[in-house]
Amino acid sequence: MLSSLQFAVLSLLLAVSFLELARGAIPVQGGDFYLPGRGPSGAVKEAKRTGHNLSSRAPGDDPQSSLTLNETQVQQALTNSGLNASDPALTASLTSENNFINFCMTQDVALTNGAQNANGSCNPTPMGRLLARDKMPSSKFKYPKNGSLLIANTTFTVQLTVRNFETGLYSNAETNFFSAPQTTNADGFLRGHSHIVIEKVASYTSEEPLDPSVFTFFKAMNAEADNNVLSVTVTNGLQPGVYRLASVRYPHVHLQISLIFISDQYGH
Ligand SMILES: *[C@@H]1O[C@H](CO)[C@@H](O)[C@H](O)[C@H]1NC(C)=O
Ligand SMILES: *[C@@H]1O[C@H](CO)[C@@H](O)[C@H](O)[C@H]1NC(C)=O
Ligand SMILES: *[C@@H]1O[C@H](CO)[C@@H](O)[C@H](O)[C@H]1NC(C)=O
Ligand SMILES: *[C@@H]1O[C@H](CO)[C@@H](O)[C@H](O)[C@H]1NC(C)=O
Ligand SMILES: *[C@@H]1O[C@H](CO)[C@@H](O)[C@H](O)[C@H]1NC(C)=O
Ligand SMILES: *[C@@H]1O[C@H](CO)[C@@H](O)[C@H](O)[C@H]1NC(C)=O
Repeated sequence: MLSSLQFAVLSLLLAVSFLELARGAIPVQGGDFYLPGRGPSGAVKEAKRTGHNLSSRAPGDDPQSSLTLNETQVQQALTNSGLNASDPALTASLTSENNFINFCMTQDVALTNGAQNANGSCNPTPMGRLLARDKMPSSKFKYPKNGSLLIANTTFTVQLTVRNFETGLYSNAETNFFSAPQTTNADGFLRGHSHIVIEKVASYTSEEPLDPSVFTFFKAMNAEADNNVLSVTVTNGLQPGVYRLASVRYPHVHLQISLIFISDQYGH
């Protein structure tokens, strides 16, 4: 078995060869995927090799439509694998001189390209806004409560109280799946919607991880919250059994809160 140090070194080598791959492979049509003004070890050398002209961009190009990474956007810290003798168990991070803009060229799968691809995919869209600690969303189920007994096969309404979250926003999940960076409202709070999923569990005390592709009920809560409460009707309820109810807020902040309740012919 490789020691963790060997593993880290191996990862570092892999990271280097990824970079080499990315460097060797410039060619999205019309794209200048190098960094203007970088030293001879980086883009300038690359530009010489490929014949690109680093000064050929018209001044005033819109950075939001340009195919070139603006030099102010380069995250220098990404060249550091993070290995540090203070913790020999650390795994080396992949590193990049260009914010990984061409990372998906190293992955032998389709680009996500706005689609939910069941085969898996690689998404080059940046993550965008990360939330401040005091803006993180949270939620708590109002109904049903943990351990509630519900009457089987009987319609009920799930209610979820949300905090620090601007509700009611959702985009086309067929064509725009993970297709844009996360944004916030002017106050720095996440804008989006929630999903709930109800999954059958073997028993109240079961510790077996569930198969995420199998679920009893799933629904996006796309409407605006009413007094901070989102609601979803589960028409005809659930068959007798023990269920787990979980919610996820989208986009991107995959905080998960779950509880268990029981659907039964008894209860109240
Ligand atoms: C690079 O582009 C600039 C601006 O278009 C031009 O003035 C310059 O002559 C070009 N240099 C080369 C080597 O092609
Ligand atoms: C990068 O962005 C800065 C700040 O907006 C701008 O001054 C600079 O001209 C841009 N660089 C290029 C190569 O467009
Ligand atoms: C290694 O970790 C120590 C302790 O956290 C820190 O002070 C030091 O700057 C780190 N060195 C590098 C090269 O990251
Ligand atoms: C997923 O893979 C299968 C088998 O290779 C292929 O037929 C199908 O087109 C792929 N689906 C997508 C969305 O790429
Ligand atoms: C839910 O109820 C079970 C059984 O009483 C308890 O063990 C568990 O801690 C509860 N979970 C939460 C999130 O309240
Ligand atoms: C609930 O509905 C299912 C499917 O319609 C049925 O098989 C089952 O007997 C019902 N159970 C109860 C307790 O009503």
